[in-house]
Amino acid sequence: MTDSMKPTVHSGEEHQSLRYFLSLLQPEEHLDITARREDYLLSALVEQLEQEKRFPVVELTDPDTGRRTICNTFASRDRLKRAIHHVVDVEEQADRFQELRFVENAPVQEVVVGGSEVNVLELPVYRHFEGDAGRYITSGIVIARDPETGRCNFSFHRMQLKDKNRIGISLHSRGDLWRYFNSAVSQGKDLDIAVVIGAHPAYYITGASKIPPTQDDYSWAAAYMDEHAQVTMGKTVNIPVPAFAEYVLEGKILADVSEDEGPFGEYTGYSTSRSTRNVFQVTAITHRRDPIYQDLVPGFAWEHLLLSQFTKEIILLNKLQKEIPGIKALNMPKNGCHFHAYLSMKPQAKGQARQAAMLLFGLDLYLKLIVVVDDDIDVFNEEEVFWAVATHVQAGQDVFVVPRVLCNRLDPSSVDGMSDKMCIDATSDPGEKPQRVALPAAVKARAAELLNRKENAT
Ligand SMILES: Cc1cc2nc3c(=O)[nH]c(=O)nc-3n(C[C@H](O)[C@H](O)[C@H](O)COP(=O)(O)O)c2cc1C
Repeated sequence: MTDSMKPTVHSGEEHQSLRYFLSLLQPEEHLDITARREDYLLSALVEQLEQEKRFPVVELTDPDTGRRTICNTFASRDRLKRAIHHVVDVEEQADRFQELRFVENAPVQEVVVGGSEVNVLELPVYRHFEGDAGRYITSGIVIARDPETGRCNFSFHRMQLKDKNRIGISLHSRGDLWRYFNSAVSQGKDLDIAVVIGAHPAYYITGASKIPPTQDDYSWAAAYMDEHAQVTMGKTVNIPVPAFAEYVLEGKILADVSEDEGPFGEYTGYSTSRSTRNVFQVTAITHRRDPIYQDLVPGFAWEHLLLSQFTKEIILLNKLQKEIPGIKALNMPKNGCHFHAYLSMKPQAKGQARQAAMLLFGLDLYLKLIVVVDDDIDVFNEEEVFWAVATHVQAGQDVFVVPRVLCNRLDPSSVDGMSDKMCIDATSDPGEKPQRVALPAAVKARAAELLNRKENAT
């Protein structure tokens, strides 16, 4: 999106909203609870549900105010898949959706609070873990414009409430926002941002994605929605914001201020004070008349991990398939907290599984362990993956380690920002695969039918 683009006015439709997505959920995917805001409560609810292997959207309604808070929205692969239009190659499809549609009377600006009235401490923001430095906004999508091209970028950043108009923010993934911030600083300027809380899942999935600098992140969200993004201009910043969002916080990341931020419970399951220590000064809060506050339980919670992993799985798989024949599926399992991947493929030549693993390590610096399996192994079934390891791997020849490669510094075991990368090649060489035990399909169907009949009779 560039400044030269002419805004077009549209009446707008609610289906580009979080509330529309929530309205489509099956009743069993939704857990309604009436309770006042209480620190740690959301995290404790989600932890308990995960232990019971349940992943509903949790909605808390405050009995005094009627205000709604939701979390766990993205804790299911199936829900994430249903939330977006099927996209084969998002990078390619995004090019059709460069243009934004500007909406009049955008719901996200039904209420506008600016100047001395701004008070972020009044937002229903939760403290998540005992080690946290305070209450954190965890589901804010930060929208900023590239100071050089004007394109918009979306990314997530932990945000600690400090004062009425002051929020501590960490740009520790050192991605596009970090680059924009430093570019603004070099010109002696603050960086304007708009933080969206509560929006259509396409915005969340886009915020978790690494997008080429030549593309505007709005075009990716639009490709996932399969229609142009409907926006309105910020009230105090020159940044378009999703018209049907719940809340937007507008303001700037200050160029010349640095303050302690953290500790905070990170995706590794450990608390960390590692932070770029930036400060976000809030100039306005806009929201709907009855806004839904969206939270995302951080730490080792499934939603926190899955949102990134789901987007990586789509994008990385697509890149691998473009380069190497026979690539089938990719899973980043929860227990690997971004550091492990299982890849299935049908190698066409000896050594090709290792080539695929090296490409994957090159594409994602977080990865430390890649297990490559044959295409008849379901990478989403860990039991099958490690059965393949048990029956195909001789460590002396099928495991290789590349020492001291760039990694994510939030890994507590990393050394000087580097870690060793390990690949386990559990594929069989072409033509040398042992015979798997098998059953005739017709008898399997007959067995299922007999068991079904038995179950219905009881
Ligand atoms: C739920 C969630 C929370 C995140 N929290 C942070 C954070 O606190 N700080 C940070 O720098 N990156 C964080 N990230 C990572 C960035 O948002 C992510 O890497 C994003 O893709 C950046 O992409 P970009 O470089 O294209 O802007 C988080 C990601 C997710 C999905």
